[in-house]
Amino acid sequence: MRPFSAPRRRVLAGSLTALGLLAVVPLTRSYAQQVLRTPSQTTGPFYPTTIPLDSDSDLVMVNGQAQIAKGQISNVVGRVLDERGRPIRQARVEIWQCDANGRYHHSRDNRNVPLDANFQGYGRFTTGADGTYRFRTIKPVPYPGRAPHIHFKISGPGIEPLTTQMYVAGAPENEGDWILSSIGDERVRNSVIVKFEPHDDTPGELLAKFNIILAADGRFGKG
Ligand SMILES: [Fe+2]
Repeated sequence: MRPFSAPRRRVLAGSLTALGLLAVVPLTRSYAQQVLRTPSQTTGPFYPTTIPLDSDSDLVMVNGQAQIAKGQISNVVGRVLDERGRPIRQARVEIWQCDANGRYHHSRDNRNVPLDANFQGYGRFTTGADGTYRFRTIKPVPYPGRAPHIHFKISGPGIEPLTTQMYVAGAPENEGDWILSSIGDERVRNSVIVKFEPHDDTPGELLAKFNIILAADGRFGKG
């Protein structure tokens, strides 16, 4: 077929602009170029062997415990999106991390470190239509050999499971962390390093925002 002549191309562009299509297409493309897929990181040895009875999204309060967890209370929030920016609903987001003493609530963590029984250690949240998730937990602390981090696992209907880890901006241990350093691309590495900042809505607590970007290949349960 003969390529469009210049005037025909102008007419075509004009009609697309009138329909609002020309504006949408480049925007979608540039969004896809900017947004980096969240990298996969090792699950590690401390994913729970048995899901605790209290597995809600508030890890700071445990059913039956009178006191709250030791540590800096932090609201870890974000959205699960595909790389075109579309929210992923019904994504199950699981997190697990060590307590403020650096101890995991796991039978494999048998180090001689006191266990904070007021910390839940694990929590889960299922996203709604806008892909948002929310946890109330503690700011992660380092333990021997690792920079502070929170483990994440995302799964759900039609979702290829992703396991990753989120790190704390400014933590001096980040540079020497072998798992974080294994992400070769600096931009991708920085995408899992998150600022913990004062939370305006709840004085005394911190806020950390971490969006999780999954592949956009049409297999996700969107609607
Ligand atoms: Fe860990």
